Parts: sequence; C-alpha cells; structure tokens
Amino acid sequence: MRHLLKDTDLTPDELLDLVLVARLIKRRPAAVRGRLAGCSVGLLFEKPSLRTRVSTETACALLGAHPVSLRGDELHLHRGETPADCARVLSGYLDLLMARVVSHQLLVDLASVNELPVVNGLCDRFHPLQALADLLTIVDGFNGRLRGVRVTYLGDGNNVATSLMLAGVMVGVSVTLSCPEGYQVPPALLAEAERIARVSGGTVALEPDPVRAVAEAQVLYTDVWTSMGDEGEEDMRRQALERYQINRELVAAAPSDAIVLHCLPAHFDEEITREIFDSPRSRVVPQAHNRLPTAAASFLFLLNRELFYQVRKQYGDVPIG
Ligand code: CP
Ligand code: NVA
Repeated sequence: MRHLLKDTDLTPDELLDLVLVARLIKRRPAAVRGRLAGCSVGLLFEKPSLRTRVSTETACALLGAHPVSLRGDELHLHRGETPADCARVLSGYLDLLMARVVSHQLLVDLASVNELPVVNGLCDRFHPLQALADLLTIVDGFNGRLRGVRVTYLGDGNNVATSLMLAGVMVGVSVTLSCPEGYQVPPALLAEAERIARVSGGTVALEPDPVRAVAEAQVLYTDVWTSMGDEGEEDMRRQALERYQINRELVAAAPSDAIVLHCLPAHFDEEITREIFDSPRSRVVPQAHNRLPTAAASFLFLLNRELFYQVRKQYGDVPIG
C-alpha cells in the first residue's frame, strides 16, 4: 500500500508523472471525469484551509469519488481512540484518507496499519500536495521545463519550504533557500535534499542574504512568516524575517523576467507586499488553481494506478523535466 506523507514517498519518476498527469487533467478534465465513481475519500482537517479543502473536494467531484469531510474534533482521536484503530475502521468505509494535521506523527500512525492510503494535506513538516502544484506552475511558466530552473525560497524554512526543496531537487530544480538563522529547514531534511541532488542533477544551496539569493533566480517563492501553530511568535518572527519580504526592491534585484509564487494565504506587508502580489510577475492565483488538477492526479495515482498510467499515456510524447 502506498501513502503520500512526504514528497520522497514518491520516486522522482512518479513525481514527474504526477505533474504530467496533472497538466493533462488541467487541459482536458474530461480524460478523468467520473473515472473513480464508487470510491470514497475522507478529507480530515485539524487546521483551517481554503485551497486544500476545496481543491481536494472538487477533485473528488471531478473524479466521481465521494468526499467525506471530517473535522479533527469530530472524531475520537483526541478522546483516546488510537490513530491505528481509527484508520482500521475508516478503511471499511473509505478508499483513501487525506489529512491536514498538527503533527506529522499522526499521519505516520494513521498510515501504519497499511489498510488505507493516507495523503498529507499539510502537517508541521511537509506540504507535498502544495509542492506538486508548485512544480506544475513552474512547468507551465517555463514551457514544460523543470530541470535547472532556479527557484529561490525566501523567509521561514517551514513545511512549504521543505516540500518545495525536496520535490524540487528530486526533479532537477536548482533550489536556493534564503532563510535567517533559526528559521532554516530542518538539517536532516536539508541533508536528505543534498543526497537527492547528487543523483538527480538538481541543486540545493543556502544563501542567507536575500539580495544575493535572488540575483539569478527565475522564481521567487515565499510563505507566511507565522504558520498555523506558531501563533504567539508573530513579533519575534516579524523581526527575524523582515529582510526577506518580497517587495519592489527585492524584485528589482532579481532578473527582470523572474516570476513570484506564494502558496497562500498571504500576509501583506509581512512576507510579500500587495503591490508585488498583484503585479504581472505574480503567478499566485494560477498556482492556487493548480491545486485542483494536482490533487486529482494524486488521488488517481493512489486509487487506480492502471488508470493513472493510461491517462499518462494519453499525454503522448510531450516531455516535461
Ligand atoms: N496553500 C494551502 O494549503 O492553502 P490552504 O491552507 O488554504 O489549504
Ligand atoms: N506554512 C503555512 C502554510 C499554509 C498553507 C502553515 O503551515 O500555516
């Protein structure tokens, strides 16, 4: 049984295939419409969400699967029912469970019984569904190319940064992380990205100076400085991260055709200014829209691999990578 708890649960080829199939679904949703009729997908949220909540539910609608929305406090997980028992029971009703959780460990525990594919819809460490949409946005912005595209992530080395780094290096992207001391991605995951880069041809570099970090970037990427769960640290984070704001000056230090991405929601005048968010450089809205075809591709991959590869074939020989 396969799960998608972190980006590296996929092989690099599978990750590329997922982006390809998502691109096909985006262009031609009819290729997959109704193809998962009869399946039920649980969508569990312990934290707020707009994009993940709606894109996964509408992906189910497109595929003909029935979505079952669940809130963390509706289950018995916080009243002593173990995640393993919960997953074992859910597997009698559902074909897949997507969960947005406070702690990655809950996903690991839900997946541990191996009776139901579990997909990470964001946790404290990773956001793999977001990284898939990010790669699709880069592919669309660079004529089908990922390999060698220079992406600079600025700000907090959080779940979104970690997944972007891992998924990016897996498919040959050159990732630069510009994060201040104390806000770097976890060292073990950076080391994992470096190991992957040695075989994938991607690169991962740390450049704490934001101006130097964007000098050759083709993509500037940021996320909130205070993630869900970090509330209470806002002032400290604002101070530590203020040099990393994507604003007019920082964009002027980047190549003139660099695009700007943000996983959203944005906090204006913290990690990005409204001016840049609304500027022609910004691809944030198509990036958010890309959550739908990437969610659909992920569900298809986990629920019906044969159909997934049939759809992959329909894409023909138009390569990405
Ligand atoms: N980017 C993202 O995951 O957004 P939501 O928190 O709205 O789902
Ligand atoms: N890093 C943010 C991403 C929100 C989609 C958070 O975890 O709150």
